Order: sequence, then C-alpha cells, then structure tokens
Amino acid sequence: MIRLSESKIDRNAPCWCGSGKKYKNCHMEFDDKIRAIRLQGHSVPDRSLIKTAEQIEGIRRSAKVNMACLDAVAQAIHAGMSTQEIDDIVYDTTVKMGGIPAPLHYEGFPKSVCTSINEEVCHGIPDEKHILKDGDIINVDCSTIVDGYFSDSSRMFLIGDVADDVKKLVQVTKECVEIGISEVVPWHFLGDMGEKVHRHATENGYKVVREIGGHGCGIEFHEDPFVSYVSKAGEEMLMVPGMVFTIEPMVNMGTDEIYEDADNGWTIYTADHKPSAQWEVQILVTETGNEVLCW
Ligand code: MF3
Ligand code: CO
Repeated sequence: MIRLSESKIDRNAPCWCGSGKKYKNCHMEFDDKIRAIRLQGHSVPDRSLIKTAEQIEGIRRSAKVNMACLDAVAQAIHAGMSTQEIDDIVYDTTVKMGGIPAPLHYEGFPKSVCTSINEEVCHGIPDEKHILKDGDIINVDCSTIVDGYFSDSSRMFLIGDVADDVKKLVQVTKECVEIGISEVVPWHFLGDMGEKVHRHATENGYKVVREIGGHGCGIEFHEDPFVSYVSKAGEEMLMVPGMVFTIEPMVNMGTDEIYEDADNGWTIYTADHKPSAQWEVQILVTETGNEVLCW
C-alpha cells in the first residue's frame, strides 16, 4: 500500500484535497502538523481517511436516507411486531429515497438492517419469528449507500413497559455516546474519547464490549480506524478535520464476554445473556470541533 500521507507534494502543485488551491495555501501546514505527530510515535490518519467537501456532501445525502429509515421505524415499532417488519420498513424507505441498504448481501448478511434484542449485542438478523414483546429493548442498526457514499447509525427502542434497570442501561449508553461526541476534538486522540465513554459506562456498573466497536465510514462501509471504547487518553489514532467515523459503544449490564451465533454466523450475544445496549452516530471532525452527520 502506498502511504499517501508520506508522499511529498510540490508547494505550488494543486492540493490533494481537490480544492483547486495551491498545496502551500491549502493542506501543506495540515500535513506537516500530522507528520510531526506521527514522528512522536502516534497513529495518524492516511490521506485516504480525510474526506473532501464533495465527499462530505455525499455522506450527508446518504445520512438523510439513513435517518429517515430510523424515523420510520420509530413511528411504527410496537409490541407484537416482527423484526422482519422492521426490515421491510427500512428496505422500502431506503429504496424509495434512492438508496441501497448497506447491510444487504454485505459479506453474506441476508437482510437490510440489524435488529438486536435484549441479550443480542449486535448483528441480529430480522425474521418473521422474532416478535417484539412488552419489556424488550431493541437496537435497530441502519446503514445506507447513496451514490456510493455510506452512512451508519443506530438507535435503541423500548417496547412497552421496560424494567427500570434495563431502561437505565439504555439511558446510560446514550449518555456514553453524548460524552463521546463532546470529546471529538481536532488534534486530540480517539483514546481521549474512548476513555471518557468507558469511564461513564463503568461508573454505572456496566462493561463495554472490547472486540467490536466503531469505524471510519463514508467511502466504504468499514474504514480505518477501529474505534475502541476500551482505550486510554493519548492513545489510538489522532483525530483531524475531515475524518468521519462512528461512535457506537456496546454496553453490557453484566459480563463483557460475548459469543457469536454458531448457526447464522452473525448475531453476537452476551455470554451471561444479560441485556446489552448500543447507540450509534456517525461524526465528522471539523476545524473547531465536530458535526454529527447521522444519528
Ligand atoms: N451497521 C453495523 C455497524 O455499525 C455493521 C453491520 S454489518 C452487517 O458497523 F452486515 F451486519 F450489516
Ligand atoms: Co457502524
């Protein structure tokens, strides 16, 4: 692989970002700053992870469809409904708006959305047999492709009367994401964010899943970096303006141990079958802070 971030560009040549400006008047200082931080031993983003204005516009269009899907699910979700019906809503809404559901046929995933109930941590597969019942919590994880641009976000839904301790898990997990968002600051590290997310979960007595986390997202479904929420301040990749990634901690009421469904090869469960919650946003690092593109 060519590490584009290491290739030198002539000061007067056009900038790599497509702005049409000369490199010296555009990203030259930016690249020098990143290089200096890399030389201190930190992980830094490749140029391929820095989105151009045009790419960000594309991701915004994709996100619009993704959020419309989750809004439609929010309107319709109720006890007695099958997760297949949720899949139908997502498929129909996406296609009507000119998008493609990103999960469909992704590495063999058979449906258009992930629906993960109670002890299902993530990657639950919708079907007619999974009927929502009073007291369930469910994560609906939606991802969309529009004009080749990817969006990705997920929300939790409470079905009817949910036990107070389970409601609290859902609420604290949402707070974890909100705290994560506030820690997305240019020239800070992903570990600065991850540590704060982790602390809020553990202070409430919960465990955070280690093996699965967030990811860069926009030009592909899953790009670098891997975004951990079991990380330490000052570690992990540097956040720079133009990066787009997800914040999507999976927070467990009991153990952080998980296992994969042996039959379908997708669904992840908590090892102790206690509930797990997850919210996901897709976020852009800006010059001054961040902008949530998709929720
Ligand atoms: N939407 C999930 C994520 O947040 C990925 C699902 S992959 C699928 O990364 F194939 F299961 F859809
Ligand atoms: Co994701």
